[in-house]
Amino acid sequence: MFVVPSWLFILLSLGLQAALCHSLKLNISQVTECEPVFVSFRGQFNSSLQQVPLSLQIFPFNSTPSLIPLPSYTANSTGVNVTFLPIPANTEFVATLASPSGIISVVSDVFEVSAGSPSNTACLPRTTFTPSFEIQNPANLSQCEDFTVSYSGQSPPVVELFNPRGHAYTLNLTSSAKNTATYNLAAIRQSQIMLSFISTDGVQNQTSSLLTGDAFSSTSCFPQSNKTDQNTSKSKSDTPKSSISKGTIIGLSVGLGAVALLAIPMVWLVVRERRRRRRIATSVDFDGSQMERQPSSYIPAIEKKGPSPPPPFFGYPGYTEGQYVKDPVYVSEKYSPTIRSK
Ligand SMILES: *[C@@H]1O[C@H](CO)[C@@H](O)[C@H](O)[C@H]1NC(C)=O
Ligand SMILES: *[C@@H]1O[C@H](CO)[C@@H](O)[C@H](O)[C@H]1NC(C)=O
Ligand SMILES: *[C@@H]1O[C@H](CO)[C@@H](O)[C@H](O)[C@H]1NC(C)=O
Ligand SMILES: *[C@@H]1O[C@H](CO)[C@@H](O)[C@H](O)[C@H]1NC(C)=O
Ligand SMILES: *[C@@H]1O[C@H](CO)[C@@H](O)[C@H](O)[C@H]1NC(C)=O
Ligand SMILES: *[C@@H]1O[C@H](CO)[C@@H](O)[C@H](O)[C@H]1NC(C)=O
Ligand SMILES: *[C@@H]1O[C@H](CO)[C@@H](O)[C@H](O)[C@H]1NC(C)=O
Ligand SMILES: *[C@@H]1O[C@H](CO)[C@@H](O)[C@H](O)[C@H]1NC(C)=O
Ligand SMILES: *[C@@H]1O[C@H](CO)[C@@H](O)[C@H](O)[C@H]1NC(C)=O
Repeated sequence: MFVVPSWLFILLSLGLQAALCHSLKLNISQVTECEPVFVSFRGQFNSSLQQVPLSLQIFPFNSTPSLIPLPSYTANSTGVNVTFLPIPANTEFVATLASPSGIISVVSDVFEVSAGSPSNTACLPRTTFTPSFEIQNPANLSQCEDFTVSYSGQSPPVVELFNPRGHAYTLNLTSSAKNTATYNLAAIRQSQIMLSFISTDGVQNQTSSLLTGDAFSSTSCFPQSNKTDQNTSKSKSDTPKSSISKGTIIGLSVGLGAVALLAIPMVWLVVRERRRRRRIATSVDFDGSQMERQPSSYIPAIEKKGPSPPPPFFGYPGYTEGQYVKDPVYVSEKYSPTIRSK
């Protein structure tokens, strides 16, 4: 099991101002276009969060993110009802909870909006989305490698990485020139990621599609540890790129839930609950070395497991305290919020 602590070590050493605060997770009930959704929370809200405004961040892929301010009692509840999410049907998204000082939950799983019948598009923003940021060569994103983003504004965007069911953090800008900027992709190979481009000069923020690395994986952005087997890390780059079908990606995503669980401790604020983390690390029977080095044999292993799912991430006993957020205010739209108690 030494592998697990070494993964934690790698993840924690990414310099992500690590923070475990979040054992807090989100689940969203069946999302239908322009219909109410129930967003449930599981885990502990830090009691300091009762004093600050919280919001639900919604990141549809390849689109613009929205922010839904939540009522003050959110930190005391097990979920909120939101009248709608401003996302068209057949769009996938992830969500997080945020306080003014940053993200306070694990990144949610990937959810997809389904079409209503009859279809109702009244809630969708009428503005059309014009991308301002573009990843050059998105098919070549590789662990620890730099990638380039073109931008149309004056200054490069801040790029945040979101790992569904995992963590979110800001990527390092390595260089920038007029209208292009280079960032280092500190992400574990073959994990699914979404990049969020935060404009620094007032143009619309933007998200990428869901991306998956790569054939050529360097580990240069991770700290080297003599505990890991150096021999096999060489052959890693020779591993032929496995062609990953969509179905497999889903399996992979399920498998990566295990990584996400281990990665929870590294998220944003301050490291805490070390004991708890250790408990999580040792109770999950997870071979991190396989994950890293043999993705192709790892994938079938997941499928062989058949119906036995990974440790459930959510799993709510029932909701008793939630209330209704009606017509939430979105950053890009001007709805007025009214709140109705249950
Ligand atoms: C950003 O760069 C710093 C200094 O080189 C490094 O310690 C940190 O791990 C990097 N963070 C990411 C997310 O790459
Ligand atoms: C709650 O957050 C504050 C500051 O944000 C931190 O100092 C404190 O340790 C946190 N408490 C717990 C129980 O995590
Ligand atoms: C949350 O609950 C605590 C006690 O359970 C209470 O003191 C606090 O005022 C509540 N906060 C809100 C915003 O309702
Ligand atoms: C990107 O990948 C393609 C094929 O996968 C390859 O031909 C091309 O050289 C790569 N480009 C870079 C910049 O690595
Ligand atoms: C972009 O996101 C940042 C951080 O979430 C936010 O402060 C800013 O207002 C957003 N910009 C726009 C134009 O929505
Ligand atoms: C790892 O091993 C190399 C030699 O094999 C040694 O030079 C280096 O100091 C070791 N690093 C650590 C962190 O032990
Ligand atoms: C590492 O490689 C050396 C030489 O190629 C070999 O002798 C050694 O047994 C290998 N160690 C492991 C753990 O595979
Ligand atoms: C999330 O909520 C949906 C619908 O309420 C439920 O079917 C699903 O099992 C939940 N997911 C988890 C991981 O608890
Ligand atoms: C959320 O809304 C649904 C449908 O409107 C309702 O059945 C449910 O009780 C609400 N949940 C809470 C916690 O308010």
